Amino acid sequence: MKNGLEDVIAAETQLSDVDGEAGRLVIRGVSLDQLVATGTYESVATLLLEGLTERRFDSEELKAWLGEARERLFAHVAATDPVLLALPPVDAMRALIARLPDGEDFDTALRLLAAPAVFLPAILRLQAGNTPIKPDTSLSQAADILHMLTGHRPSNEQTAALDTYLVTISDHGLNASTFASRVIASTGAGLTSSVLAAISALKGPLHGGAPGPVLDMFDAIGNKANAEPWIGEALDRGERLMGFGHRIYRVRDPRADALKGALRPLVQTGQVDPGRMSLAEAIEAAALTILRERKPGRPLDVNVEFYTALLLDALGFPRAAFTGVFAIGRTVGWIAHAREQALNGRLIRPRSIYVGPLPKVA
Ligand code: CMC
Repeated sequence: MKNGLEDVIAAETQLSDVDGEAGRLVIRGVSLDQLVATGTYESVATLLLEGLTERRFDSEELKAWLGEARERLFAHVAATDPVLLALPPVDAMRALIARLPDGEDFDTALRLLAAPAVFLPAILRLQAGNTPIKPDTSLSQAADILHMLTGHRPSNEQTAALDTYLVTISDHGLNASTFASRVIASTGAGLTSSVLAAISALKGPLHGGAPGPVLDMFDAIGNKANAEPWIGEALDRGERLMGFGHRIYRVRDPRADALKGALRPLVQTGQVDPGRMSLAEAIEAAALTILRERKPGRPLDVNVEFYTALLLDALGFPRAAFTGVFAIGRTVGWIAHAREQALNGRLIRPRSIYVGPLPKVA
C-alpha cells in the first residue's frame, strides 16, 4: 500500500514528462524553455490535443474557433444569480461549467477550453458590481481574458505574460487534478464530467489553491527584514510555506523560472513594482536558507505557485481568483489526458486494504 500513491505508475502518456531529479518538464517532446520562448496558449493547446480529437487543426484555426466559442459561451453568463455569485470565483465558475452538455467530441472540448476563459472574468466583474464584458473574437485567448477582466485591451507585455503562464501550466504529468480527470474518463463519462472533477481536485492548497496564500504570505511579511523571522515563526508553528515543496521535484520547479522570466518585461516597463519583485526574491532566499536548515533530509525548493502569485496579481486578478486562472490554463491538459485515457486506457479501479473491524462470530 502506498499512501498518496507516490512512485506508483498509473498511466502511460505521450503528453508530458516531469523529471523531478533534473527539474525538467517536457510537453509532447518540447521542453518548457522552448515552449515559453515561442509558444502561445493556442500553440500549446494544438500540440496537446493533436491526434486526440476527430479534427485536425493548426493554432491559427484554433485561435479563430476559440474566439467564436467564447462568443457563444458568453450567453451562459446570464445564468448567474446571487446564490452563484456568493460563491468563491472558482466554485461559481465550476457551477456555470456544470450547465454545459457532456460529450467526447471536438465541439465539447472546444466549449470546455473557452468556458472558463469567459466565465471567470465575467464572474469577477459581477462580484465587483461591474457589467461583464463581451468577448472580442479577434483577440487571442490570453488577450481576451485580460480584456474581459478589465474592459481594456491589454499591453503586449501583459498578454505575453498571461500566455507564458497558460503555456507553463498547461500540463504536468499525473498530478491530482489530471488523475481525477483520467479516473472519470476511464468510466466512459464525458469530457465535461472529467473537467468538473479536475476543477474540484485543483481547489485545495496542496495542489492549485496555493497562490492566494502565497500572496497572503507576501503581505504578512511586508518587508525584506521581516522575511527570516516571519518564516522561522511560521515553521515553528508547524505551518507549511506556500509556494515551496513538491511531490515530484527534488530541485527547483522549472516553471518557477519560466514565470519569473515572464514577470521581467512587466518590471522593466513599470507595469510591476520592482520593490514587489525584490521582496519576493528576498522571501524566496530566506525560505530556502531556513528550509535547508530545518529539513536537511528533504530537498525543498520553490514551486510554480510562488511566482504565479506575483504574476497573476500584477495582471489584475484578485487573489481569490488565482485557482480559477490555473483552471483556465490546465483545462487543455485535463481534456488531453481524458481523451488519452478514453482512447487507450482501462477502467481505473484500484483496491484498498480493509483495516476495520470484522463481523462478530455468533
Ligand atoms: N513548507 C515546509 N515544510 C514542507 C513543505 C513546505 N512547503 N513542503 C513539505 N514540507 C516538509 C513536510 O513537513 C515534511 O517534513 P517532515 O518529514 O519533517 O514531516 C517533508 O517536507 C515532506 O513532506 P511531504 O508531505 O511528504 O511532501 P509531499 O510530497 O506530500 O508534499 C506538497 C508536496 C506540495 C503538498 C508540499 O510540499 C506542500 O504542502 N507545499 C505547500 C503548498 C504548495 O505550495 N502547494 C503547491 C504545489 S505545486 C502545484 C502543483 O503542481 O500541484
